[in-house]
Amino acid sequence: MRKIAILTSGGDAPGMNAAIRAVVRIALHNNLEVMGVRRGYAGLISGDLFRMDRHSVSDIIQRGGTILRTARCSEFKKEEVRQKAANILKAYGVDALIVIGGDGTFTGAKLLSKLGVATIGLPGTIDNDLAYTDYTIGFDTALNTVHDSINKLRDTSTSHDRVSIIEVMGRHCGDIALYSGLAGGAESIIVPEKEYNRDELIRTILDGKNNGKLHNIIILAEGVGGANELAEYVQEISGLETRATILGHIQRGGQPTVADIVLASRLGARAVELLMEGKSARVVGIRNNQVIDDDIDEALAIERRFDNELYEVARILSQ
Ligand code: F6P
Repeated sequence: MRKIAILTSGGDAPGMNAAIRAVVRIALHNNLEVMGVRRGYAGLISGDLFRMDRHSVSDIIQRGGTILRTARCSEFKKEEVRQKAANILKAYGVDALIVIGGDGTFTGAKLLSKLGVATIGLPGTIDNDLAYTDYTIGFDTALNTVHDSINKLRDTSTSHDRVSIIEVMGRHCGDIALYSGLAGGAESIIVPEKEYNRDELIRTILDGKNNGKLHNIIILAEGVGGANELAEYVQEISGLETRATILGHIQRGGQPTVADIVLASRLGARAVELLMEGKSARVVGIRNNQVIDDDIDEALAIERRFDNELYEVARILSQ
């Protein structure tokens, strides 16, 4: 193997740049050439590749977003489009591709590997929705962003004696809601993985009020959704002024935390090593603080387990 390429695909996540830097620098250290692909699979099929050297990744370790830019590319689901991508990589003399993204990105990499391109995936998504790895790159930064917002919203909720409903991202996964809700001392955490009952929610709010709580924070995962409608309901039934805030894409940006930079650097380095060991169609992750790798299909087949114990701890702590 002499030449590798790298791309970021799907939703961006803080720490992707640190991962790109690690891949490029470890590859160059091992005398491999590196091509960057702009705008994920969309850029790949339009031949948007460029040569990267160590200066291409200077000063990016601390930057959010992705210098390679990204896109969601539904066209890549078509066999003929993937064949075109494989042909383009071959024309550039690229033997292997490292992709950074989530499950859709990994599925694309797996299918591409069947066309003779060695592929390795790195988990880059704020959602933490990939069960094979304890953490995904970007999750910790998003949590810190949400935590900061919860603290700000608590200030104004307390001043006004209001209930505050904060909707956070995570697609179908409640991890951002769970971890940020625990860290932010939220009175209620509503996630897609757990049934919730509106009567119980109102009871928790009113009990809090009667116990002298000055604020009431409800973290709502987007997988449940409906923050505005829930706010109207809570206000009407509880009689307490209620406001909804949908944090949205603010959770995807910003300087990555040290935890995300270190994770991205460790996983990026391992991805290059795997290619040098002749491996393909694998994803890199972290389990019990050890860098691991799994077959892509096996990794994607692992069922996500919601941390019910942590959910219960968060519930008790906020009473
Ligand atoms: O996967 C990351 C994520 O931010 C999800 O939390 C969210 O559901 C989705 O992407 C939003 O996607 P888009 O940026 O395409 O609107």
